Amino acid sequence: MGNSQITLSSEIISKLIEEALFMRTRSYIPYSGFAVGAALLTESGRIYGGCNIENAAYPVTICAERTAMVKAVSEGEREFRAIAVAGGREEDPEVYSYPCGTCRQFMREFCDGDTFIVIVARSKEDYKIFTLEELLPNSFGPESLA
Ligand code: THU
Repeated sequence: MGNSQITLSSEIISKLIEEALFMRTRSYIPYSGFAVGAALLTESGRIYGGCNIENAAYPVTICAERTAMVKAVSEGEREFRAIAVAGGREEDPEVYSYPCGTCRQFMREFCDGDTFIVIVARSKEDYKIFTLEELLPNSFGPESLA
C-alpha cells in the first residue's frame, strides 16, 4: 500500500479479491495442488475471472492471471484497470501468491505499467497492492516495437 498512483476504491478492491478467492475454487490442479484465482477489472467495470488449469504435459499449464486475460481479450476487451490474485496450496491461502514473470509480461501487452494495479491477496483484509511497473520495471512492450 501507500502508492499514490493507486486510486481504486476499497469496495472495488474487496469485490475483486472476493472474486479471485472464488475463482481459486475452480482451479484444476491435480499436479501441484497449488490453487490460484484471479479477477480482472476492465475500464468499463466488467470483471473476468480466471483460475490455473494444469496439464499432464506440465508446461502446457495456464496460470490464473492469463486465463482471466485471455477470457477478457477474446470477448473484445482491450482496456484494463486492475487484477486481483489469490493463491496457495489447496484451500489454504496463507501465502501472497505473486504473478509469475510470464503473466506479468502477458499483462504488459495490454496494460499500462503506471496505472494498471495488481492486488496480491491472502484474504479480503490482507493484501498487497502494486502497479504493474513495480512488478515489471523497465519492461518491453508494444511501443518498444513501434
Ligand atoms: N500459477 C498461477 O496460476 N499463476 C502464477 O502467476 C504463478 C503460478 C499456477 C501455475 C501452476 O498451476 C501452479 O500455480 C504452480 O506453479
